[in-house]
Amino acid sequence: MTILVTGGAGYIGSHTCIELLNNDYNVVVVDNLYNSSKKALDRVKEITGKDLKFYKGDILDKDCLEKIFKENDIDCVIHFAGLKAVGESVGKPWEYYNNNITGSLNLIEAMKNAGCKNLIFSSSATVYGDPAQIPITEECPKGKCTNPYGWTKWMLEQIFTDMHTADPDWNVILLRYFNPIGAHPSGLIGEDPNGIPNNLMPYITQVAIGKLPELGIFGNDYDTPDGTCVRDYIHVCDLATGHVAALKKIKENCGVSIYNLGTGVGYSVLDVVNNFIEATGVNVPYSFKPRREGDVPQCYSSADKAKRELGWEAKYGIKEMCRDSWNWQQKNPDGFGEAESL
Ligand code: NAD
Ligand code: WQD
Repeated sequence: MTILVTGGAGYIGSHTCIELLNNDYNVVVVDNLYNSSKKALDRVKEITGKDLKFYKGDILDKDCLEKIFKENDIDCVIHFAGLKAVGESVGKPWEYYNNNITGSLNLIEAMKNAGCKNLIFSSSATVYGDPAQIPITEECPKGKCTNPYGWTKWMLEQIFTDMHTADPDWNVILLRYFNPIGAHPSGLIGEDPNGIPNNLMPYITQVAIGKLPELGIFGNDYDTPDGTCVRDYIHVCDLATGHVAALKKIKENCGVSIYNLGTGVGYSVLDVVNNFIEATGVNVPYSFKPRREGDVPQCYSSADKAKRELGWEAKYGIKEMCRDSWNWQQKNPDGFGEAESL
């Protein structure tokens, strides 16, 4: 079976490529390398001892997509490609809607032309907005997003669902990720944010390694056990196996199916900091700062549906997530920028 992985050089995409290759899928990647490095794919080959086919290309480029589908007999697309910086999307709505929505419309047009109607999409817990219930089940209504990035996920879920409504031969699996952290245990691939990180774990690892002086914790007056926000952190390697589980499901002609990919366990910001210190023995200085706009107090999943229907559940705990994030940061202090020296 041949899988087209859009955005396959990125953080989650590269970890998923490993899992696909390890499960004997043929892997074709398209990525414009806007937020990633080809070195990640070289490392994927090194880790697995297997090859994949790479197109440096843009999903905004229809000719490129047509060419890929002409040259490969694609059975299913796993669609990661997109812009994902929440804060940036507020100032650049056009860029986010164009890249994420137009790019995805091009993709499904190329899929339609090629007769490929199996799609697994990287959605996000952000579509729940301020969730109506905790833990969040898939039946929980979608909420109001607080930024254009979130709306692109919200809208794309609807667009892909409508494709199936119009033509029931389409199978669409919407995977709503919670908070991916961690890295491949080899330390060869991991998250490589540009500039100062927006997300918690890369910020922590950069403080731990001395690139940043201290962590600012956004708010300690929330209605949560210790006053800091609670999230469902999930190891990126668990997310990767979730995609392989989804591929097995899509072969059963599942129509439109939605799954949360989370652990079902919530940790506060302070829990994460303390677990990081315990797991690594490295101190992380922090101070409390005002709340960050758009943050919801609590967001964690019910992971029951994925377990029931996909036979998938997260295996890694918070300490392993911290250990592997730190291992990646230590081995690659400048991300893939320094990769050649390894
Ligand atoms: P990432 O930025 O590391 O990966 C996205 C990849 O897509 C990058 O390699 C980038 O170069 C590529 N890309 C972007 N626009 C493209 C285009 N027009 N054409 C071709 N390639 C393009 O991000 P990630 O963390 O690996 O996220 C992967 C997907 O999962 C994204 O869709 C993201 O929105 C979604 N997601 C991420 C998180 C998270 O916290 N990381 C949470 C929920 C959902
Ligand atoms: C986690 C917690 C912060 C940084 C984001 C997106 C979401 C999804 C996953 C894509 C929050 C706190 C953070 C810092 C802090 N991505 N924090 N100091 O906001 O839960 O989710 O990534 O779909 O859509 O919004 O993740 O890692 O940014 O924050 O105190 O320097 O850590 O306030 O409580 P978030 P995050």
